[in-house]
Amino acid sequence: TQNLRIINIFRSNYVGEKIQIKGWIKASRKMKQHLFLDVNDGSCSKNLQVIATTANASSLTSGSSIIATGVLQHSPKNEFELNSEHIELCGGCNIQDGYPFAPRKVYSTDYVRQYLHFRPRTSHFSSLLRIRDAATRAIHNFFHKEGYLHVHTPILTSNDCEGAGETFAVVPNNQETLQNMVRSRLLPEETYFNSKTFLTVSAQLHLEAVVHGLSKVYTLGPTFRAENSKSRLHLSEFYMLEAECAFINGLDDVLVFIEKLVKNVTTDVLNECEDDLKKSSEGGDNFAWLDKKFVVLTYDGAAAILKDKTKYPGDFVEGASLNKDHEKFLVEYCGGIPTFVINWPKDLKPFYMKECVEDESRVAALDLLVSNVGELVGGSLRENCRNKLEAKLPRDGVELDWYLDLRKFGGTPSGGFGLGFERYLQFILGINNIKDVIPFPRWPHNCKL
Ligand code: 4AD
Ligand code: MG
Repeated sequence: TQNLRIINIFRSNYVGEKIQIKGWIKASRKMKQHLFLDVNDGSCSKNLQVIATTANASSLTSGSSIIATGVLQHSPKNEFELNSEHIELCGGCNIQDGYPFAPRKVYSTDYVRQYLHFRPRTSHFSSLLRIRDAATRAIHNFFHKEGYLHVHTPILTSNDCEGAGETFAVVPNNQETLQNMVRSRLLPEETYFNSKTFLTVSAQLHLEAVVHGLSKVYTLGPTFRAENSKSRLHLSEFYMLEAECAFINGLDDVLVFIEKLVKNVTTDVLNECEDDLKKSSEGGDNFAWLDKKFVVLTYDGAAAILKDKTKYPGDFVEGASLNKDHEKFLVEYCGGIPTFVINWPKDLKPFYMKECVEDESRVAALDLLVSNVGELVGGSLRENCRNKLEAKLPRDGVELDWYLDLRKFGGTPSGGFGLGFERYLQFILGINNIKDVIPFPRWPHNCKL
């Protein structure tokens, strides 16, 4: 007896062979002497039909886990079905006991999100998780082909890379430390062995250290932001894909690379996950942009569009950053094609960005705006002039001499970017709420499970 995952049954021919599968009953129908079970094991979006006798029908409820053994055959509709000789019930599942999902019923994403521990069993969310996995692999394959090295950067750090004051401080959770903290009126962030320690908001500064030895590096890891936002686009913990490249020629190199990355990864996901995309996508499947060149606007060009009342009816203040409405409008204005906004006013962006050669009031920075989410990527050339960098370093007592040293010793022109992985999934799947593209979303007041 071959033990098979259901995806492999659909991939080759096991008809006439005795096989065993292990999975969860999604639905069951009784017809005369027979019980027809739709069984899924998470390996693909398709269910395998398993035929059982009605003898143990009462225990084979929807949601139960089973091991079924029998001969695989063609069904009258010429699909595969398992004519079971034996079914072992692993774990029963009863709505009467409080299981929140009835068979065949479709639930809203808000309802399903209340049960994060059961969510991976829904067909919609298991499809999402397979797409998330495929996208992760596509990213690693792409970077590998491009000659980039994946590195692990720390989660505990002393810097606030973005300088936005959105860090979570790390505090050792023992009574003595906490009492000391209260007694000596220490701030929470001063209690990690007496130095400020945060959960990282970005791996960038550490990647910059590594890139000055390995030339091309990236990381895909968790980042944390204490933004008090419950918006459909913000999480307290999200995955960011960050890359850095040394010996770079200019911002154009970064734009070209990002465009290639987004197109390659999306094409791979479309090729691999056709069925899952149908199940988990919320908004149409408009991938026309895959064949078009991404639009590039300067900040000033974008501002001119937003100030023109014949084009944009809302308000925009010259020199200010773009809000979600502005971002959405610009992408629509550019025909739904992903749109770079480059050369931003210096005071809107973090200290590490390089001034534009032709205009010192601007930095060589980019935001990539896409439909459904707005800002998907943020990046820039890095300031590699030591004096300019030193003048802009944050003066909040954070020790960044090591970062300056990267310019003092063997510095190179370098650049990089960070792409919000959850926002990327929202973008390609048209999913409204970012909490529906990550297995266990964290947002203010929501970290119980
Ligand atoms: O624009 P951000 O803040 O850029 C950086 O952190 C740079 N240090 C990256 C780099 O150059 N290495 O964040 C990058 C992206 C945003 O464009 C957005 O897609 C995503 O991260 N992002 C969030 N995603 C979910 N929830 C949040 N709270 C997010 N904040 C940023
Ligand atoms: Mg940004």
